[in-house]
Amino acid sequence: MPLKIIEHNSKEYHQMINLRDEILRKPLGLYFDPEELIREKDDILIGAFEEDRLIGCCLLTRSGNGSCRLRQMAVSRQLQKKGIGATLMNFAENIARDKGYHTLIMHARKPAVGFYQKFGYVISGDEFYEVTIPHYVMVKKLR
Ligand SMILES: CC(C)(COP(=O)(O)OP(=O)(O)OC[C@H]1O[C@@H](n2cnc3c(N)ncnc32)[C@H](O)[C@@H]1OP(=O)(O)O)[C@@H](O)C(=O)NCCC(=O)NCCS
Repeated sequence: MPLKIIEHNSKEYHQMINLRDEILRKPLGLYFDPEELIREKDDILIGAFEEDRLIGCCLLTRSGNGSCRLRQMAVSRQLQKKGIGATLMNFAENIARDKGYHTLIMHARKPAVGFYQKFGYVISGDEFYEVTIPHYVMVKKLR
């Protein structure tokens, strides 16, 4: 399964928005704000592909003090629990390390906390709400 860095506003980026919309936003009755997407031009956009079809994605956003945030992790519904999320996670961590970041942070949706714990992320602080649902900040030091 090829993994690639995606260019902002490319054909692959539009596939990424569609996947994120399907998996992360529509189920909550939410949609992307165009301003939010414009801000992603400086992010590292990552896609997992099956031939030309995007089947999983995530992105990295610089957050200061040597940290970056992993965001928008999503795998195509029919292909979840087959190792695609794990492959994306390892790829994203390697990129973050290569770029010199020493800490990865995320706002993890409550049902996904167990997934991130598998990779050594730990909860930091109390539950909070974002996009209408409970989340936790999760953190890992990259070695
Ligand atoms: C969460 C998500 C990205 C995981 O991707 P995936 O491809 O399904 O996960 P994988 O198959 O790579 O799973 C890797 C390991 O984590 C486990 N796992 C996967 N999802 C899990 C979950 N929600 N809770 C606990 N463990 C989970 C798997 O069982 C597997 O464990 P194993 O190594 O012991 O077999 C994917 O299920 C998804 O897109 N979910 C909906 C969107 C979402 O919640 N995104 C996260 C936003 S913070």
